[in-house]
Amino acid sequence: MGYLILGSGGLGTALAHELARRGEEWLLAGRQLPRGLDPACYFPLQEVDSLGFDALFTLYEQARLPNVVINTIGLLHDLNHLPERRVEEVDPAWLCESLQVNAWPHLALGACLSRLMAPDARLWLCSVSDLAGSIGDAASQGVPGRYSYRMSKAALSMGSCLLAREWAQRFPGAGVITVHPGPMDTPLQQPFHHELDTASLQAPAQVASRLLNLIETLTPAHSGQFLDLAGRPLPW
Ligand SMILES: NC(=O)c1ccc[n+]([C@@H]2O[C@H](COP(=O)([O-])OP(=O)(O)OC[C@H]3O[C@@H](n4cnc5c(N)ncnc54)[C@H](OP(=O)(O)O)[C@@H]3O)[C@@H](O)[C@H]2O)c1
Repeated sequence: MGYLILGSGGLGTALAHELARRGEEWLLAGRQLPRGLDPACYFPLQEVDSLGFDALFTLYEQARLPNVVINTIGLLHDLNHLPERRVEEVDPAWLCESLQVNAWPHLALGACLSRLMAPDARLWLCSVSDLAGSIGDAASQGVPGRYSYRMSKAALSMGSCLLAREWAQRFPGAGVITVHPGPMDTPLQQPFHHELDTASLQAPAQVASRLLNLIETLTPAHSGQFLDLAGRPLPW
């Protein structure tokens, strides 16, 4: 199988290492080439804008499309922004940036793939999401704040549902899922270790392996679902 991994952070890097270990064909597109990976399997995707995605997909104009595309790009904080604890802290510019990083790449990938796929293409598009963006999850309902992150993951959910419905008509062999990986020990989570039971933090390598195993088991009936790593449907 051929894999395209988006994002060279904790999970994206672990996925590339696991695919290399499995002897699969893969390409990693992200802001930096992680140490220990083959530079020939790396594409510099500096910005999550149309130019960046269009440039990446020129690679596939003459070559076979990947069978699996996994989007691990995500944003919870940066040097100037921590997750909001109260509504007064919501900054519209940060909310827009969160939407651009957490929700839009899934649709950008959907559009680039739609332009190149044949009607009978067989492919999975998987975006890594977060149960924290679920409105229906009872456990996260009482947890306050993190407006921009959670709203942008909720937007990713709607985008994923809509794309799955559209592809069911246009590309019935192509499926779309979002996956909640659970807490991982990556740069995204690092500033918040004190808020977590560190025993619950998973190594990204472990998540990468489980995610790839999950994708191997998918059937067309899974398209449009939000799943955990065991393949159980989660509430939107
Ligand atoms: N870690 C967790 O506990 C956890 C829990 C639930 C869900 N998730 C989700 O899992 C996914 C993977 O996250 P992770 O834990 O691997 O975090 P991570 O190490 O921070 O990786 C996030 C990736 O997104 C990229 N990114 C962020 N902002 C960007 C921007 N403006 N333009 C381009 N790329 C950008 C990062 O690039 P740089 O490395 O260059 O910044 C990095 O490649 C995310 O969608 C996250 O929401 C994580």
